[in-house]
Amino acid sequence: MVEILKIEGLNKSFGDLTVLDGIDLSVNKGETIVVIGASGSGKSTMLRCVNFMEIPSGGRITLNGSAIGTASNGSVTYSEKELTGLRARVGMVFQHFNLFPHMTVKQNVMEGPKTVLKCSAVECSRRADKYLEKVGLGWKADSFPSQLSGGQQQRVAIARALAMEPEIMLFDEATSALDPELVGEVLLTMKELADEGMTMLIVTHELGFAYTVADRVLFLANGKILEQGDPESVLINPQQDATKNFLRGHGSFRLPEPNLD
Ligand SMILES: Nc1ncnc2c1ncn2[C@@H]1O[C@H](COP(=O)(O)OP(=O)(O)OP(=O)(O)O)[C@@H](O)[C@H]1O
Ligand SMILES: [Mg+2]
Repeated sequence: MVEILKIEGLNKSFGDLTVLDGIDLSVNKGETIVVIGASGSGKSTMLRCVNFMEIPSGGRITLNGSAIGTASNGSVTYSEKELTGLRARVGMVFQHFNLFPHMTVKQNVMEGPKTVLKCSAVECSRRADKYLEKVGLGWKADSFPSQLSGGQQQRVAIARALAMEPEIMLFDEATSALDPELVGEVLLTMKELADEGMTMLIVTHELGFAYTVADRVLFLANGKILEQGDPESVLINPQQDATKNFLRGHGSFRLPEPNLD
């Protein structure tokens, strides 16, 4: 087993507010981890610390065996150069996809490989074709984002992240801004990635999806991982009252059809 991501003692405070309070997590290659928790429990902050959009207040993050930052005298410092390199290795998909409106779909997907990775024009084009095909949007390569549905735009955003060929993909409520009828196509794309062995850390309120796709579900509360385990134990048989209350607040979620063969 290859450990892709290791989070040790992660802390994050904003002024007096402690948002993450000692998070430990190890993610192996090919694992799909779903993070759930109440609004404000720190889910986004945790993902943002993993790709250093937020600088951790304490703790250590190790990607594929290399610890990020330089530790001395009990604190860790980060150089901008190192963080730029690190961010290229971690793909992130947000609620709001923020495609460049003046670029075609293909140009959007080529932009990262071109400007960050300095890939050749041929390689940028090859990657864009490959990953647009993967999300089922090769046929929209020459369209502009405004000509696509929200679900299609989000799938382009996923292709854009994949084109960097990241070691892990982070998804922060990638379907929350979509009309309900467009959610399914994006979740299906994410499920296909999981099935193909992509390593993924996903924040979502789609508990049916979490149940079907996650190898492990984490419940975050008060800056800590309060409960974790396979989907059955966390989503169906939670042990902690806070988890039970959270799940009650989400009502029932649709379980996958039973397998009858
Ligand atoms: N840049 C910031 N400055 C100050 N406080 C922040 C900042 N970012 C987040 N917070 C606070 O940290 C806490 C956790 O926020 P976070 O966005 O991580 O929660 P979340 O679990 O993702 O919530 P949601 O489900 O609503 O997206 C909140 O109280 C939030 O107000
Ligand atoms: Mg959030």
